[in-house]
Amino acid sequence: MHIPYDVRELDRRHVWHGWAPFDHTIDKLVIERGQGYLVWDAEGHTYLDAISSSLNSTCGYQHPQVVAAIAAQMAQLHHVDHGVATNSPAARLAARIAECAATESGPALTRTLFTNSGSEAVEAALRIVAEFHRHRGEPRDRVITFEAGYHGSTNLCQALSGLPHVRPAYGHPFTVTRVPLPDPVTARDPEYTPLLLAAFDAAFAAQDGPQSVAAVLVEPFINVGGGIVLPPGLLLGLRDRCAEAGALFLIDEVFTGYGRTGRMFAFQHEDATPDVLISSKGLTSGYLPLGAVTTTDAVHLAFAADRAYGGLPYGHTTSGHALACATALAVLDVLQNEGLIERAATLGTDLLSKLAGFTAYRHVRDVRGFGLVVTLEMASPDVAQLLVAAARERGLLLRVQGSAVMAMPPLIIDERGVKDIAAMLEESLAAIDLVGALR
Ligand SMILES: Cc1ncc(COP(=O)(O)O)c(C=O)c1O
Repeated sequence: MHIPYDVRELDRRHVWHGWAPFDHTIDKLVIERGQGYLVWDAEGHTYLDAISSSLNSTCGYQHPQVVAAIAAQMAQLHHVDHGVATNSPAARLAARIAECAATESGPALTRTLFTNSGSEAVEAALRIVAEFHRHRGEPRDRVITFEAGYHGSTNLCQALSGLPHVRPAYGHPFTVTRVPLPDPVTARDPEYTPLLLAAFDAAFAAQDGPQSVAAVLVEPFINVGGGIVLPPGLLLGLRDRCAEAGALFLIDEVFTGYGRTGRMFAFQHEDATPDVLISSKGLTSGYLPLGAVTTTDAVHLAFAADRAYGGLPYGHTTSGHALACATALAVLDVLQNEGLIERAATLGTDLLSKLAGFTAYRHVRDVRGFGLVVTLEMASPDVAQLLVAAARERGLLLRVQGSAVMAMPPLIIDERGVKDIAAMLEESLAAIDLVGALR
């Protein structure tokens, strides 16, 4: 195959890659094609995509049903300004998300505002939070988050995080109280539930007290902060505390939503229905950009007093994009008709059991999983990078965040693919074990 020297060269000279080292000599992969859970680079090497390309692919590459739905919608209507008119895919998708988010006991999440990315959805959700309290005549400006939380790339989202490489140096409109997590290895232990809840109680009580808290915003699995599994009962405890303080409970399911954890949404494992659900990534399986903020009627109705803009001066030119929404509908059909959520649960358990014994390798501190995402906690970020490089050489693409290496293939993966991930990971671990100089 033709080696696209010019593509690498053009990239090197002209593309600014976010979240990447400032080193123009690094040989970037040039991915030319994908099919199922495999991708091929320009030199014809095959890779098993255990980063899920868009970081939460459900349907994998070139799913025929999704590709056909995109072509059909494109031939009919790509978009229409959502402030002026609606379109059929957007209306049907909003109704479908309400169905997907239903639980036995929680209040119904019925109303969706569309955005183009996860970060925008978090921004919009916080705008909703601020306006909600203002409409109720008691403005509040404090948000409680996890210190290690990550909620996106925009200025406001970054200001929510306490991660040193994410948090910007400038100020922001909300007061943020951040709750630290215990060690990533022990965080999932049920005995940490009361300890973490006590830390949130202290956060509520801090500064001007619980009545100053506008919202608690958490991820149900800490992604960028290190692939950390949270203890059971935490989300329910947070929901109760929010209700008591009159604060809104926001769950950021940008990473976990749409089947990844073995349920449609991670909050459904314990029916901890939030007031505001934020989703993106898996919604379109990465085929098109789309984000969603889904609220209860109670939140939405607080805006009824302002007839002009529904009280929400927020929206993008491409909000409710017909093509993106039609894609999401096809993706949800595949997810549900092909039983991909149940499969995430089964294959996730299978992958975790295959990798659990890898703690026997010198540099592996911990192996943990939540649905179809398994994290290997390595001894240091350097070893983690080394493992990712060794795996890439063997045809396996892995996600890395600090010392955490994550395997999260598209949900259409099969038993053979899971076996291949385990085998390539083991070979890579054995190879880096031979590198003596590492801690
Ligand atoms: C939990 C969480 N929230 C928000 C975002 C931001 O989403 P986006 O990259 O689509 O802006 C991410 C992205 O990784 C995420 O993992």
